[in-house]
Amino acid sequence: MTESATTSFLAAARAAQLARLVEWLRIPSISALPAHKQDVRAAAAWLAAELTRIGLEHVEVIDSPIHPLVYADWLHAGPDRPTVLIYGHFDVQPVDPPEKWTTPPFEPTVRGDDLFARGAADDKGQTYVHVAALEALLATTGKLPVNVKFIAEGEEEFGGATINAYVPAHPDKLAADVCVISDTHMLSPTQPSILYGLRGMWSGEVTVTGAAHDLHSGSFGGAIHNANQALAELLAALHNPDGSVAVPGFYDDVRPLAAAERAALAQVPYGEAELLHESGAPAAWGEAGYTIVERIGARPTLEINGMWGGFTGEGFKTVIPGEARAKLSCRLVPDQNPARIGAAIAAYLQAIAPPTVRVALREYHSGPAFLSPIDDPAMQAAARAYARVFGAKPVFTREGGSIPVAAVIQQTLGIPIIFMGFGLGDDNLHAPNEKFHLPNFYRGIETVIAFFDELR
Ligand code: BES
Ligand code: ZN
Repeated sequence: MTESATTSFLAAARAAQLARLVEWLRIPSISALPAHKQDVRAAAAWLAAELTRIGLEHVEVIDSPIHPLVYADWLHAGPDRPTVLIYGHFDVQPVDPPEKWTTPPFEPTVRGDDLFARGAADDKGQTYVHVAALEALLATTGKLPVNVKFIAEGEEEFGGATINAYVPAHPDKLAADVCVISDTHMLSPTQPSILYGLRGMWSGEVTVTGAAHDLHSGSFGGAIHNANQALAELLAALHNPDGSVAVPGFYDDVRPLAAAERAALAQVPYGEAELLHESGAPAAWGEAGYTIVERIGARPTLEINGMWGGFTGEGFKTVIPGEARAKLSCRLVPDQNPARIGAAIAAYLQAIAPPTVRVALREYHSGPAFLSPIDDPAMQAAARAYARVFGAKPVFTREGGSIPVAAVIQQTLGIPIIFMGFGLGDDNLHAPNEKFHLPNFYRGIETVIAFFDELR
């Protein structure tokens, strides 16, 4: 009876719940850009007010020198019921390049079945799935079937230093039986997937300095090592022709894939065709000897995220740049240690740097990979919830993205983490025209409710 009341509530509340998500998405909470610091704060305040409105308790915005956290709970389900820690993030990536957006990133727009906005899927939309589920349950039954603790951060896309320190410092406050995170995607709108692994991360920036300043390429060209060229030569030496990473020691700690796991991953219905469709690339690329799913989820990489130097404006300038830079990042797998990887990259760059330039490496954030057992009862409860709502059993797979706090929660709270993603591979995360598939939004809400039901 109450289930049908909740179902009718959700049917009637669709437009209103979407409108509230749209309101949240209008706040340009870009955590990486200092100019948007107040917007990240505004997104936190909006969430805190929303959690208060739906009936959560102990709602607080926890300030930090970087970006705030938001906490709330509802703990009246009874001591015999499990406690679920829900995690999400309300910060978003920069919008670059702005001219590639069909509609402006912070003017959320519905086209067809999709809601377009920065943060639509990553991660305000997926975080709001949980808010909407809690609202429906509290509004129609006056209670929740499980105890709930809710924590969200405004810094995930920026490394998560604040929450990575907060969780180990507040183990009692955050103590729970299971953590659920919706910040990943499923294989297709009809094929749900649950992740049991995410890659870790190391990131840094390399600066190549040649001449003390930019030079006329007629007067100095051919006699000075161009910093752009030297950088390109260094970057080209980071990979081997077979697609593997050339940095000595890079693979030393990599946990090999067991034959049984390779066999299971081979069953995941994602391959070259899906990859090319989602990416628009003309051909696949990667480490020889591994499938696409393994390359993305279970093998480490080294990427060049940006490179610049010299004159890049319109027109032409005959210049030899004195300095060139590149942003680098690695996706890491168990049991790679981010600090060791950073040191190995720094040592390799110094070893191969020619005497004609100086090379410096500064490090940004990093975090280890995440892996969890799939036979955990909570994992199986999530699988049944997906099957109930989507009509298809989820596949268990590993993904390439990183959620830095996951390993921290696993290690310091000692609880399983269930990645109940409702995004899709073509949601354009971090890219122009990010979107959230609205049928997944509504089904996601029902799946969270079914998960609570399966868990108790
Ligand atoms: N939602 C993503 C993580 C993700 C993406 C998981 C794709 C699975 C598939 C998350 O918000 C993210 O992008 N994290 C950053 C973290 C980094 C900046 C420390 C990432 O993975 O680049
Ligand atoms: Zn995210």
